[in-house]
Amino acid sequence: MADNTVLKVDELSTHYLTSDGEVMALDDASFELDRGSSIGIAGESGCGKSTLAFSLLKQVQPPGEIMSGSIDLDGIEVTELSEKEARRKIRWKRISMVFQGAMEIMTPVYTVGHQMREPLKYHKDITGKEARDICEKYLKMVNLDRSIFDRYPHELSGGQKQRVVIATALLLEPDIVIFDEPTTALDVVVEARIMNDLKRLRRELDISMLFITHDLSILAEVSDNLAIMYAGWIVELGDANKIYKDPKHPYTEKLMAAIPDIRTDIDRLEYIPGVPPNLVNPPSGCRFHPRCHKAMEVCREMEPETYTVDGVEVKCHLYSEDESISKSQEATYETAYEEEAASESYEGEKGKEVSEGLEEVAEDEVMEE
Ligand SMILES: Nc1ncnc2c1ncn2[C@@H]1O[C@H](COP(=O)(O)OP(=O)(O)OP(=O)(O)O)[C@@H](O)[C@H]1O
Ligand code: SF4
Ligand SMILES: [Mg+2]
Repeated sequence: MADNTVLKVDELSTHYLTSDGEVMALDDASFELDRGSSIGIAGESGCGKSTLAFSLLKQVQPPGEIMSGSIDLDGIEVTELSEKEARRKIRWKRISMVFQGAMEIMTPVYTVGHQMREPLKYHKDITGKEARDICEKYLKMVNLDRSIFDRYPHELSGGQKQRVVIATALLLEPDIVIFDEPTTALDVVVEARIMNDLKRLRRELDISMLFITHDLSILAEVSDNLAIMYAGWIVELGDANKIYKDPKHPYTEKLMAAIPDIRTDIDRLEYIPGVPPNLVNPPSGCRFHPRCHKAMEVCREMEPETYTVDGVEVKCHLYSEDESISKSQEATYETAYEEEAASESYEGEKGKEVSEGLEEVAEDEVMEE
């Protein structure tokens, strides 16, 4: 592991062993994270983002299990830790997480301070006064008044609660903080403020951050690198700017095209036809083939390898050096993309409705002026 690398994940697979079968939620995930850098994990709902996060903390709940692979956290092999070791050695201290929906599960009967102090009390032998000082320091760091320490969760706004959760994740000065959909429940203005604060905190505290979201547009600002996930696979991995500018994987291409941009013609807003697959029985070959607009015959039969293209890793047959694969026959099977494109609904009635709505708002604003 290079000197500056704080986390190296290698071919990690985590499955849920359910009575309906084995859910292949994460397969062969590999990536690295440097000290002080950030990575964004994006992909549709159910593609395995949270499963990846829980695996890094060795906190996958049953029936989930890490099946194979390695997680090297600055010299500690996380996959080999017992529950007790994981709690004592890594969680909160080396790697902490702002859980998806965490602000909703703050206990209403205890004050903010009471809840913040828990991880500090577990890991450090300190007095109540010392714990309070540390909590107040981090409340200030996330732009909250120290008086929040004595308040109850119901006395706070959603944005304030989320800031408390972020401050708590920072208390033990971990090497890495994972943010799982940190701003999903908040309005766009609060979201932008919190994301800006996270950028600042990363610089000030020199911590590595892993952001998880299905919303690619908010990752643009905060991530050095991007990992795009589809159906349990990392399908594209590399420098965020490169991927935004020139997405290589057909799935990433469509995800990028689906980002609404208020400055462009909303009629052109795209979406990806079809739905993500059931991971108990994912599609053969490339898991994206039933929805891919560039699918070839080979895609249904053969799992693609991961190729490095312009410094970016892409799991797709289109980039194989073997031309009999990369230029194989176009798919003769029908994909969801073709079905919907053929039905001419693809341009999107919804897009038009939204577009008309926006025009109305614009007119109202002019009238108010
Ligand atoms: N406890 C569980 N038991 C069985 N299957 C599970 C469990 N938790 C998650 N899964 C399945 O594993 C897959 C990945 O789920 P995961 O929660 O990691 O997705 P996600 O990308 O975080 O989705 P979202 O964006 O909706 O949060 C899904 O198919 C999901 O149904
Ligand atoms: S391997 Fe085939 S189906 Fe999969 S993304 Fe590439 S072109 Fe599409
Ligand atoms: Mg999730």
